[in-house]
Amino acid sequence: MDLLDRVGLEHPVAQAGMGGGVVDAALAGAVSAAGALGTIGLLSPRAMHREIGRARELAPGRPVAANLLVPFTHAAHVAACIDAGAALVVFHGGSGQRWFETLRTAGIPVLCTVGSVAQARKALAVGVDGLVVQGVEAGGHLMGTEPLAELLPRIRELDRGLPLLAAGGIAERSDVVRVLNAGATVAVAGTRFLLTSEAKAHPEYQQRLLHAERTLRTMLFGVGWPLAHRVVPNAATERWCGPEGEVRASIRLAGRASALVSRALPASAGNAMARVQRANVPLFGPTLPIVGMPDDAVDRTALYAGETALRITDIVSAREVVSQLCGS
Ligand SMILES: Cc1cc2nc3c(=O)[nH]c(=O)nc-3n(C[C@H](O)[C@H](O)[C@H](O)COP(=O)(O)O)c2cc1C
Repeated sequence: MDLLDRVGLEHPVAQAGMGGGVVDAALAGAVSAAGALGTIGLLSPRAMHREIGRARELAPGRPVAANLLVPFTHAAHVAACIDAGAALVVFHGGSGQRWFETLRTAGIPVLCTVGSVAQARKALAVGVDGLVVQGVEAGGHLMGTEPLAELLPRIRELDRGLPLLAAGGIAERSDVVRVLNAGATVAVAGTRFLLTSEAKAHPEYQQRLLHAERTLRTMLFGVGWPLAHRVVPNAATERWCGPEGEVRASIRLAGRASALVSRALPASAGNAMARVQRANVPLFGPTLPIVGMPDDAVDRTALYAGETALRITDIVSAREVVSQLCGS
């Protein structure tokens, strides 16, 4: 039985896992209710449990997925996903291998996000049920440096039967068709769902994306999580990034040095840091601006977005996005 049948997915489209409070049950539930796969991103274990449960209530009988960022995942997150009835779990930022057995015992398929053939080989070796293949055009934290169109066929070659979810560059029906024709099982969209009325992105963040003229791949917002990420420019990147998003060595070093400490801290520590970070001081964590934050947060936190931001011109409902992507 293929993954779509196993989890009971109607359309081959998923809303990407997006952490930091930008997705709650309203978005994931609306996506799942429309027949695609809604995903609750990393929150505190208690909040994940609550939001997965609420999303399932909004989409009765439909699957809702959970996304876990490996460096920040604790046993309580995994327990919350199982107890709340997540249909599958996607890991990002590592394979998540140490949690496989617990999830499998609970009957939950496990996928992991990869950005290179080498990462895909490693994930296959530890026995994932599927891969999310992320191209470098994607928004948020990036697992690799290759465009999806080059990476997907090479990973398809490794295992012809493995479910592959393709992430990066999905904003319209033609994008979905393209990746399905290239061997993907499901097309994954992040930025397109960020620009919906149900997303909890700060309204000014959404406006910046709608008017963006370019995106940057940078390490600027790396304190606590030194992995490259794609953002649209704001005052912080204008001040500290070169034209290609490059940052000076001391900024990269601060990210690397902070990584070990931050893993031991609760998610709320990131929000506390976001409150004190300033565009003119080069110490930026991975927090993104969500509703309820002050307006100036958009110039001192990360405006994660994929290259699709340059093509998306409207904020519509999640149901409308699913219908556009699925041609239904
Ligand atoms: C705001 C935002 C937050 C993200 N957070 C996560 C996350 O927590 N976990 C994850 O696996 N991927 C995360 N991503 C990456 C997405 O899973 C996905 O790879 C990406 O959105 C695809 O590119 P697109 O945005 O152009 O559709 C995030 C992306 C964005 C835009």
